[in-house]
Amino acid sequence: MVRISPSILAGDFTDLRTTVKSVEKYVDSIHVDVIDGVFAPNITFGVPIVDALRNITSLPLDVHLMIVEPDRYLKTFVDHGASSLWVHVESCPHLHRTIMRIKELDVEAFVCLNPATPLSAIEEILPFVDGVLIMTVNPGFSGQKFIPQMTVKIARLKKMIDERNLSIHIAVDGGIDETNLEEVVKCGADTLIMGSGIFAKESPGDFVRKLRETSEVFK
Ligand code: DX5
Ligand code: ZN
Repeated sequence: MVRISPSILAGDFTDLRTTVKSVEKYVDSIHVDVIDGVFAPNITFGVPIVDALRNITSLPLDVHLMIVEPDRYLKTFVDHGASSLWVHVESCPHLHRTIMRIKELDVEAFVCLNPATPLSAIEEILPFVDGVLIMTVNPGFSGQKFIPQMTVKIARLKKMIDERNLSIHIAVDGGIDETNLEEVVKCGADTLIMGSGIFAKESPGDFVRKLRETSEVFK
C-alpha cells in the first residue's frame, strides 16, 4: 500500500487547523519538519507546533528531525505526541544507539539520507529501522525541485532491502508531485511525503482525493 504524508511546512501557518482538516480524510499521517538552522539552512518550528497538531488531529505525526544532536530531543517529541521519529544519518555519529533509543520510546524509527549520502552509510542499520527516507531535495525548504537522479538510489535501496529479506518502508521527501510520484513508486517508494505538491494546490483535499482515485499506484 502506498501512503501519503503531507508536509505541514508547506501549509498555512495562520490556520493550521484548516490546513490539517483539508487533507485529513485522504492521508495516512502528517509530516512535521523540525529544522534548527544549523543542520539545514532554515528555522522552522519545534515542540509547540507538535502540541498544536496533536490537538488538531488523531493522525500519526511523523517528526522529521533536521537538527544537530537529535538525541537530546527524542523523548520530548514523543512525550508531545510524535508517532515516529525520523533522524538523519549525517547528524547521528552513534546511529545504532539513537535508533535503539527511539525504539525504546515505543515509536517507529526512520533513518534519513541527504541526496549526497551513499546507501552504504545505512547498510548495517537496516535491520533495526522501520523505514528509510531518501531525501529527493537537500533538506531545508519546501518547494524545491525534485532531483531526478535519486530514482536510481531508491531502486538500489529497494534491492538492498529485498536481498536482506527485510520488510521496511521506503519514503521519499522533496519535490514529490503528480508528475513524479508514479516513477518513485515504481522504483520502490511506498511513502510519499508531499509539501507544496499538495498545499500549493487550490484545493489540497480535492487534489489528494482525486489523486487516490485516479493514480494506478494507489489501486
Ligand atoms: C525539506 C523537508 C520536506 C519539505 C517537502 O527539508 O524535509 O519535508 O517540506 O516539501 P516539498 O514537497 O514542497 O518539497
Ligand atoms: Zn521532511
